[in-house]
Amino acid sequence: MNFRRFHYVTTDSTSERAFAALAAGQAQHGDVHVADAQTAGHGRFGRPWYSPAGEGVYASVILLPPPPPWHPGAVTVGVSLAMFDAAQELGLASAWLDWPNDLMVADAKLAGALVETRGLDPKHPHYVAGIGINVRQRHFPSELTNERPVTSFALAGIDVATETVERKLLDCLSRRIEQIDSTPAELEVDFVHATGLANREVIVRHGENEERGVFAGFSFSAGLLLHLPGGRERRLALEFVRSVTRA
Ligand code: BTN
Repeated sequence: MNFRRFHYVTTDSTSERAFAALAAGQAQHGDVHVADAQTAGHGRFGRPWYSPAGEGVYASVILLPPPPPWHPGAVTVGVSLAMFDAAQELGLASAWLDWPNDLMVADAKLAGALVETRGLDPKHPHYVAGIGINVRQRHFPSELTNERPVTSFALAGIDVATETVERKLLDCLSRRIEQIDSTPAELEVDFVHATGLANREVIVRHGENEERGVFAGFSFSAGLLLHLPGGRERRLALEFVRSVTRA
């Protein structure tokens, strides 16, 4: 993948910059919008993303897939695995993925991804993969830590520069995005491995409902397979699965 890098010292949100480039017809596959700091970084469910200057990686990558269409789940999984690979390769062997795209160390969040598409045109699909990685932060605001535990490479004992993490992330992303076309089944297997959910009892939130069962399989096309009590099975389409957690 050829990455063109667009750098901002400070911007509202790198994902907004990526969407602005798309709207202006100036975007190419592999364009990366990165900032040292964001004033309005956002995450899933409209949550703010803490983006202090020089302490994290704040990057949004534009993906313009060629035909045939990619399954949207494959993009999310590819991006999540790229964060996971980067953490592992930089020495965080205990990192794991909290379904679908929170990168964790023990019970604390190290990084997250938000894959967005706006005004979807099926003939010209586009994705903006916004990725935030905590690298050098040693303190987080209490509004954040009151909600859930948060960590960074520095707090996990890895002294690494944000530039190094960004480079590693893009290397890993390039490999994983290629796999969407070449070996999607490997993405599925690696994702299940990174979540550590195989054969575990889990709670799945999908739509407004909740289901409890044993995690028995996962594929982009068939969704998630749960084994329920009494030998019953339940398949859940990926687009409706909001979270999968250990019971
Ligand atoms: C999440 O875990 O909820 C996803 C967080 C995504 C944050 C990144 S930081 C770079 C990009 N710009 C944004 O405004 N959001 C994403």
